[in-house]
Amino acid sequence: MIDPFGRTISYLRVSVTDRCDFRCVYCMAEDMTFLPKAEILSLEELDRLCSTFVGLGVRKLRLTGGEPLVRKNIMSLIRSLGRHLDSGALEELTITTNGSQLAKYAQELAEIGVRRVNVSLDTLDPEKFAAITRWGKLDKVMDGLAAAKDAGLDVKINAVALKGVNEDEFDDLIAWCGRDGYDLTLIETMPMGDITGDRTDQYLPLSMVRSRLKDRWTLTDIDYSTGGPARYMRIEETGRRLGFITPLTHNFCESCNRVRLTCTGTLYMCLGQEDAADLRPVLRSSESDEPLIAAIHEAIDRKPKGHDFVIDRRHNRPAVSRHMSVTGG
Ligand code: 5AD
Ligand code: SF4
Repeated sequence: MIDPFGRTISYLRVSVTDRCDFRCVYCMAEDMTFLPKAEILSLEELDRLCSTFVGLGVRKLRLTGGEPLVRKNIMSLIRSLGRHLDSGALEELTITTNGSQLAKYAQELAEIGVRRVNVSLDTLDPEKFAAITRWGKLDKVMDGLAAAKDAGLDVKINAVALKGVNEDEFDDLIAWCGRDGYDLTLIETMPMGDITGDRTDQYLPLSMVRSRLKDRWTLTDIDYSTGGPARYMRIEETGRRLGFITPLTHNFCESCNRVRLTCTGTLYMCLGQEDAADLRPVLRSSESDEPLIAAIHEAIDRKPKGHDFVIDRRHNRPAVSRHMSVTGG
């Protein structure tokens, strides 16, 4: 799959559920309305869709959410997708998780062939953690991280940078990640979906964070890239990577290699645009994969050159109306 700007699409991110057992303040409103079950693709349908993408050249598959591990029987889907790792068709199968269920599933994930997990964790302070996630418990996530380590999974921590909330904690996070052997990526808040409260209050530019971190740590540019929006540096003191995701202050679209699928079968060609292709009716209309393949190619032919995220300060409106939990970041 090659898009109109010559970018090869080799990475699919799939939100397997819009539900989550947390309610992070930058991600969700407290009383979220989730999709009715009837709208959601079955695990068999998700398998068929993902496998079609693998057949079209997707080499890296990431399951996200909401929280992917709260979906009932999710391990049966992951186990089934593991066959593409065994055949060599797929290079990597990964998940982005909040870690709440990792203690239960880490071992099984490793057995299936998952090598790495991204765990979202914004603070090491239990009270702040409870305040940010509203419903989360830090010690459960810590147990999950320990289980991931025991299972031999590589862990990358994703922390959203929040003004006045965790901005004094990045040194501690870096040191902790260094000790426990995790990479760390800092993320700027993105204006997606209605949340409770004012998003401009949360926005902390990472350019500021980076210059502050440089006083304390030796940061070396490295050319490591996953084709996504993160720019990576090496922290010489810990030997770990530090990533910065700055969607508002930087453009990262030239090298974009990914598309995103929601749990209802809608394909988003860009995280920061509304255009999408509804693959569910195509999927359900025929046993044959031919129409589906044609619809996917047609969608890739519409992949836009880039996003236009802007926090609308005057109207306090999100740039993109859907929540991150729809497309999973
Ligand atoms: N802006 C930035 N990051 C967000 N996440 C969820 N919502 C937002 C947002 N509006 C993060 C989560 C997780 C990743 C999938 O996206 O914390 O790390
Ligand atoms: Fe759930 Fe992740 Fe959203 Fe937090 S950021 S509410 S853990 S989906």
